[in-house]
Amino acid sequence: MNFTVNDLNVKKFLAALKGMGIDSYVSNGETVLTLPVIRKAAKTCRKCGLANSRKNVVFGEGSDTAQLVFVGEAPGEEEDLQGRPFVGRAGKLLDQLIERIGLRREDVYICNVLKCRPPDNRDPEEAEIDACKPYLISQLGLIKPKVICTLGRHAYNTLLGVNERITRVRGTLRDYRGTMLLATYHPSFLLRNQEKIKEAWEDMERLKQLLRS
Ligand code: URA
Repeated sequence: MNFTVNDLNVKKFLAALKGMGIDSYVSNGETVLTLPVIRKAAKTCRKCGLANSRKNVVFGEGSDTAQLVFVGEAPGEEEDLQGRPFVGRAGKLLDQLIERIGLRREDVYICNVLKCRPPDNRDPEEAEIDACKPYLISQLGLIKPKVICTLGRHAYNTLLGVNERITRVRGTLRDYRGTMLLATYHPSFLLRNQEKIKEAWEDMERLKQLLRS
């Protein structure tokens, strides 16, 4: 069997395997990775120092065949405790933003650049991002969404390999390896800057249109 994980048929095939409770399979003598396999690897990851302070690895959650993936920065305290992304105050706001698109949380996929919490919620360090990036790249490669929405500057800069301020790039549509990428504010930023919420609503409207296109 000749295929790539970016092939839509493979996406359907992986979904069918998942439905049968199969996490990985062998093709041409090689084990083909699926999201559960990568999640398992991340659970025991010790590629950076955050492994020492984390309570849980926060791999990501949602639909493995989502058309829309949100990428945040890193787990916070509540996420670290629960092992789930965006379950604290910022998460409640993200849920509301998702509702504005006419979707539910379970319709999309939510993950972060870093899978482990930086102490005191400090900014991710470059070495941590470098160590963790393969998990994110694999997630996006396997889910192969129609649109990626980056939340805040870290997700945007990591995926596009740039160093931009979010206020400069918010609302812009970019190409990430053939997938549309829309930059919006991080929900935590919106909690602190509530006058910006209208711009985030505009971005959700844009996402709705992109998903329909
Ligand atoms: N902030 C993030 O960037 N990610 C989370 O999962 C929670 C808060």
